[in-house]
Amino acid sequence: MIDQARQLREKVRQKETQAVQRRTRIIAVTSGKGGVGKSNFAVNFALSLVRQNKKVLIFDVDLGFANVDVLLGRSPIETIATMLEKDLSVWDIIEEGPDGLLFISGGTGFNDLFSFDETRMNKFLHELSAIQGHVDYIILDTGAGLSQENLRFILAADEVILVTTPEPTALTDAYAVVKMVHSTDQNVVMKLIINQCTSDKEGIQTAANFKKVTERFLNKSISTLGFIPSDAHVASSVKRQAPFLLSFPNCQAAMAVQQIACEFLEQPAPPKLGVKGFLLKMLFKNQSS
Ligand SMILES: Nc1ncnc2c1ncn2[C@@H]1O[C@H](COP(=O)(O)OP(=O)(O)O)[C@@H](O)[C@H]1O
Ligand SMILES: [Mg+2]
Repeated sequence: MIDQARQLREKVRQKETQAVQRRTRIIAVTSGKGGVGKSNFAVNFALSLVRQNKKVLIFDVDLGFANVDVLLGRSPIETIATMLEKDLSVWDIIEEGPDGLLFISGGTGFNDLFSFDETRMNKFLHELSAIQGHVDYIILDTGAGLSQENLRFILAADEVILVTTPEPTALTDAYAVVKMVHSTDQNVVMKLIINQCTSDKEGIQTAANFKKVTERFLNKSISTLGFIPSDAHVASSVKRQAPFLLSFPNCQAAMAVQQIACEFLEQPAPPKLGVKGFLLKMLFKNQSS
């Protein structure tokens, strides 16, 4: 099994090394409240981008509650933590999920990212920077809420997708994230997803109200990326450990996420920092400046 996994990783590495130079963009998927559907969105959105011929890597940076591997039905052997412990290359820890979707699991031990000693930090930077040019998108599946760690990922990404449900508690927490981010950096590009809508009307109204509030009280404009209906197939796909885009390709949630990916690709992309620029900003930039 382990030999097979190694061979697969070697294949991924070779394929990626031969790849054309891609303009790697980094998107943070985040939320205020937990359990609103970030990871399911991140995984199925990533698969929709793959269907549009993009090379995509999901980096699970939910420190403490990483579960992208569970949603993809894979058990990674190597993680960021073992890369540092065993002196592996980043290509040893990149796993290949369904449809060629790549992913990196944080794993326990990645939780101390921001207190790595110099040697580990340099290794982390060196290895992760090597991904530049090999994928079109790195999607960061972040944790929920306003931790300093989350804020660092959000502030360093090229753009942020903020996921909320129409529930007042989720909306209040999402607003708190926008407020905190905006008070630190007014130029962060944030796009809104309303997940688990009971109707189109509810999605449209929720997004319009949220937009009105951020514009009025923060003078911050947030565009709406789309709405995803509440769909029982999502929970079924989680139980099967197979993303709904693959297990129920015609379900309403799958249709909505694919539509969102198409719209996302049509929108003008904000300027990008590149992987090394992202990592340096995320790790070292003073959050108050
Ligand atoms: N569109 C949806 N329709 C129905 N249930 C959903 C939907 N999106 C998410 N869920 C439910 O919410 C749960 C939590 O989703 P998850 O993606 O793990 O949230 P988060 O990453 O924000 O914590 C899922 O297991 C699923 O049961
Ligand atoms: Mg999650």
